Amino acid sequence: MQAAAGPAAEPSYDGVVRLAERAAVGPGLNSIAQARAALVAAGVRITDLSDSNPTRHGLLHPDILDVIARHVPDAARYEPHPRGPRPAREALAARFGGDPADYWLTSSTSEAYSWLFTLLADPGQAIAVPRPGYPLTEPLARLAGVRTTDYRLDYVHPDGWILDSESLQRAVADPQVRAVVVVNPGNPTGSYLGAGAGAVVDACARHGVALIADEVFEPFALDGEPGTISGEQRVPTFALGGGSKLLCAPQLKVAWIRLSGPATDLAPLRDALDRIADAFLPVSGPIAAALPDLLALADESVATTRRRLQGNLAHLRAALAAGPYRVRRCDGGWTVLVDVPQHLPVDDLAVHLLRSAHLAVHPGWFYDLADGHTLALSLLPEPEEFAAGVSRLRAAIDDLIDRSAQPAAGPESDRPVI
Ligand SMILES: Cc1ncc(COP(=O)(O)O)c(C=O)c1O
Repeated sequence: MQAAAGPAAEPSYDGVVRLAERAAVGPGLNSIAQARAALVAAGVRITDLSDSNPTRHGLLHPDILDVIARHVPDAARYEPHPRGPRPAREALAARFGGDPADYWLTSSTSEAYSWLFTLLADPGQAIAVPRPGYPLTEPLARLAGVRTTDYRLDYVHPDGWILDSESLQRAVADPQVRAVVVVNPGNPTGSYLGAGAGAVVDACARHGVALIADEVFEPFALDGEPGTISGEQRVPTFALGGGSKLLCAPQLKVAWIRLSGPATDLAPLRDALDRIADAFLPVSGPIAAALPDLLALADESVATTRRRLQGNLAHLRAALAAGPYRVRRCDGGWTVLVDVPQHLPVDDLAVHLLRSAHLAVHPGWFYDLADGHTLALSLLPEPEEFAAGVSRLRAAIDDLIDRSAQPAAGPESDRPVI
């Protein structure tokens, strides 16, 4: 007789879970984040001159929450549509042009990017993105299983940014590149495409690639003339906008894609994008129901925000007018770039500003700015806080200059960094 088999041994798990390469977490906190975390842990209050969260700077329109509350009962029934409820898309088309059938609601422009990368590129293929540019495009592409390849933007003072058409041509000529991203106006460059738009559309048309136009900052013109690519007809164009900037309300989680382009492309693109959208249906009923009334507040919200941006930019220019500083041309958007003297590598400078002045700034390399002497500042803070922060920034850097044995030199100096 055979002995009865005992209970099967529990399979033991003795490994470490394997992550997808695209989800692998990079190195820990950088030196700036470490310095900030240590100060915060010690109870220090940091003035954040890099903060672009409008809800922390008194910029949320006072009626927004009431509008949403009023529309909550409209969301009692669920009638899903991959593009989002038609009344919301009608309101978008009335404001931005085009047909309501060519709009898709998403929960954020990040989500829109991710859908479009999935729609246009297979794993391993690539998307051309501007450099310097919005830092989230690369991780979003990686998460969608696609690569990014750069085309360059160059700064010439005081004229502003120009698109390096050779690098754009090179990027789109690669058959693996399936779309070009433009950010109009750019973050952090603050530059509208203007005349460059024609060159981008030509390049896309010549090589049969689509255009993704992130226009979340389009209404916020400062030094420059606004201009939109939304509605472009010559190539398949996906224009992105969203409530996080238009309404200063990132917490609402509502954004949109507008499709335009040659008539023959539209039907297959609609079908394919519907299929992706249908798998997510991300926008909440109350927000979608409220969107038409929310959009009615957009002009007022944009006007208030632009006044804030303009006031802070003018203050910054006046405060840094004398001395070895250069505030770059800023055609639009919420960020301004400031060139500072090269008395410290810009990373060390950011840490120094945290420790000596309790000020947070972004070094230009966060945005792939190649020169090591540029800071990116948010123009959103309340005027008094911004002015106080700028005056501490200037005092801290002036102090570094005074302590340096060398005479102060401007950003163009090739004087060695100390
Ligand atoms: C250029 C650009 N696009 C999109 C976004 C984010 O928008 P959303 O909150 O809709 O994802 C940002 C946020 O700062 C941005 O700078």
